[in-house]
Amino acid sequence: MAFLSDRLSLIKPSPTIAMTTRAAELRASGRDIIGLSAGEPDFDTPEHIGAAGKAAIDAGHTRYTAVDGTPTLKRAICDKFARENGLDYAPSEITVGTGGKQILFNAFMATLDAGDEVIVPAPYWVSYPDMVLLAGGTPVVVECGQDDGFRLTPAALEAAITPRTKWLILNSPSNPSGAAYDRAQMQALTDVLLRHPQVWILADDIYEHLVFDGFEFVTPAQVEPRLKDRTLTMNGVSKAYAMTGWRIGYGAAPSALIKAMAMLQSQSTSNPTSISQYAAEAALNGPQDYITDSRAVFQRRRDLVVAGLNACPGINCPTPQGAFYVYPSIARLIGATTASGTVIDSDEVFANALLEETGVAVVFGAAFGLSPHFRISYATSDEQLTEAVARIRRFCEGCTTAG
Ligand SMILES: Cc1ncc(COP(=O)(O)O)c(C=O)c1O
Repeated sequence: MAFLSDRLSLIKPSPTIAMTTRAAELRASGRDIIGLSAGEPDFDTPEHIGAAGKAAIDAGHTRYTAVDGTPTLKRAICDKFARENGLDYAPSEITVGTGGKQILFNAFMATLDAGDEVIVPAPYWVSYPDMVLLAGGTPVVVECGQDDGFRLTPAALEAAITPRTKWLILNSPSNPSGAAYDRAQMQALTDVLLRHPQVWILADDIYEHLVFDGFEFVTPAQVEPRLKDRTLTMNGVSKAYAMTGWRIGYGAAPSALIKAMAMLQSQSTSNPTSISQYAAEAALNGPQDYITDSRAVFQRRRDLVVAGLNACPGINCPTPQGAFYVYPSIARLIGATTASGTVIDSDEVFANALLEETGVAVVFGAAFGLSPHFRISYATSDEQLTEAVARIRRFCEGCTTAG
């Protein structure tokens, strides 16, 4: 009898974490490594939010709280949905977890049985398929290529839906492509969904505030109110307020689903950290200038990286609408040989060669379900980005194509 469960064989370690770990090892061995693989803002949590966390400790808010969030944090989340998304939720329709990750996990665990399908547009965030598999469901991956702006088309959605489809995951702006749906594109998808009442929508809005060039962010329940009673809108403070380590995410959905998710949480982690909940409340209720300031910085970095990559022979980098990632194509480098003699026959080989030969850590596209691409997280300093792009350019210039 094996000690480890069969369930574990369904999943793999996160490739983004694996790449970040490899980069850290090389750095520890003395190599000059630029890490562009991790998905978190490089800024500190704004001071007033940190102060709220400290004040919570001083005030003795260090005990268990209600399982899925304090009443005051839930109120702040309701206010956020009303203020920013025009969505009217009651506190009984809100759940708070240890990061957006736990909200997604709870939702799948609470709803999926064997044979239930979840539509996952690719490129996807690495955790979606594995979470679905762990919960006993079947991920149905739909490739959304660069020609479609990495967005799911209504026709592709229609073709992917079956009587067993339980969820569609929509992540806008997207990790890893940065692509976002405008109102008309979102409406075209919600029109399809209206015809399929068995399908629920999981809107992962974690990058909501990171949109550029005046892009208007929209979320499905706002665009099509008739879908609100089968939508879970997930969001969190990690990316919007540089609070990845505080671990607070939240979801809004009909109360029956929220109750089921809270029951699961009560038998696993119980409440998210009490101190972090107070800090998250300060983030949502307090001044919002961090959001505007960080958006301007990320937009500048996006432009720097897109222009730099498009000057690299063999790389084609579209301009994303949001998040802090780019997802360039290396189709023209497949089959080429690097200066050190490695034949690039996949995006994984490309990323590994790039790391070994130039010290730049990126994540290969196969990890996100769409090749041949790679993901750069530009949540790092302009200096590091400029140097990284220069190294990538030298790497590409050193590649020779056959014939
Ligand atoms: C698309 C997407 N969704 C959800 C999350 C989860 O974020 P957290 O658990 O920090 O709230 C991430 C984090 O990388 C993400 O990229």
